Amino acid sequence: MAKRKKCIGILTSGGDAPGMNAAIRAVTRTAIYHDFDVKAVYRGYKGLFNEEIVPFKTQNVSNIIQQGGTILKTARCQEFTTKEGRQLAFDTITKHGIDALVTIGGDGTLTGARIFATEYNFPIVGIPGTIDNDLYGTDRTIGYDTALNTIMQAVDKIRDTATSHERLFFIEVMGRDAGFLALNGAIASGAEAAIIPEIATQEDQLEELIKNGFRKSKNSSIVIVAESPQTGGAMHVAELVKKEHPQYDVRVSILGHMQRGGSPTANDRILASRMGEAAIYALLDDQRNVMIGIRNDQIEYVPFIKAIKNDKPINRDLLNTIRILST
Ligand code: F6P
Repeated sequence: MAKRKKCIGILTSGGDAPGMNAAIRAVTRTAIYHDFDVKAVYRGYKGLFNEEIVPFKTQNVSNIIQQGGTILKTARCQEFTTKEGRQLAFDTITKHGIDALVTIGGDGTLTGARIFATEYNFPIVGIPGTIDNDLYGTDRTIGYDTALNTIMQAVDKIRDTATSHERLFFIEVMGRDAGFLALNGAIASGAEAAIIPEIATQEDQLEELIKNGFRKSKNSSIVIVAESPQTGGAMHVAELVKKEHPQYDVRVSILGHMQRGGSPTANDRILASRMGEAAIYALLDDQRNVMIGIRNDQIEYVPFIKAIKNDKPINRDLLNTIRILST
């Protein structure tokens, strides 16, 4: 009797990120090249409850490398956080003959993967897909570069009107608990300051800004604020400044979900393609419960626990760079 081919399940979960499709394509094609079957699970872990599972061939991933979002859809799944839910998920996986999973997503996705993999001794390899860039063990996560470029382009446009009206703008960017987008978005767009969650309180950061003079000789200023409970968000920061400094003509702009959309940059497509291929090599190599990272251009296997629990260091010196370059 012919031996059954091993089957890899693939899913995207949590917030979508540009480049996820490139990763899906790379996982699917590398798996097929190495003689695995592939099954796509739709809507993240939810697809394991609803049995939204479809065999994938190489044609299923044609013409998607350039598309933003995820063709597999995505969801945040409450059921998967419960033991009973994970048991149901395991039953579905067994029923559909899936031997290993590749999950693409952020910290929530990897946390779920880690718990499930440990409970059922089931091989899972994670691929870091989040615009926030907040996973330890990889220099970049898929989607971060595209989001950064989107922020830069949006801030360039806002600067035109800020300069014309001589206004002070607070622009809120995503990055729930991480300041990577705010910090590097500020450098890329020549903003005057960034307020990020990693630095004590937003009052300290504001005081510093005000002490140094918002506008100096300029006729407009832009401050990028990371959305997060630690910063309070752009609206909150703007209110504080308006109260203390009524002389400024203050405006707020919240970039929101547009940051998650759009065609992935070349960097994100390449990152996703390399990580997708590496995920299959990791499984061939009998690796399990690891996230694929790329550090200094080298593929690394990062245990889930490290990727999730370790704080990815942010380069605080860049705040100084922003200050110096905006004088
Ligand atoms: O985790 C990625 C992220 O884009 C965060 O930066 C942001 O806080 C969150 O997702 C928004 O999620 P939702 O799409 O559920 O509003």
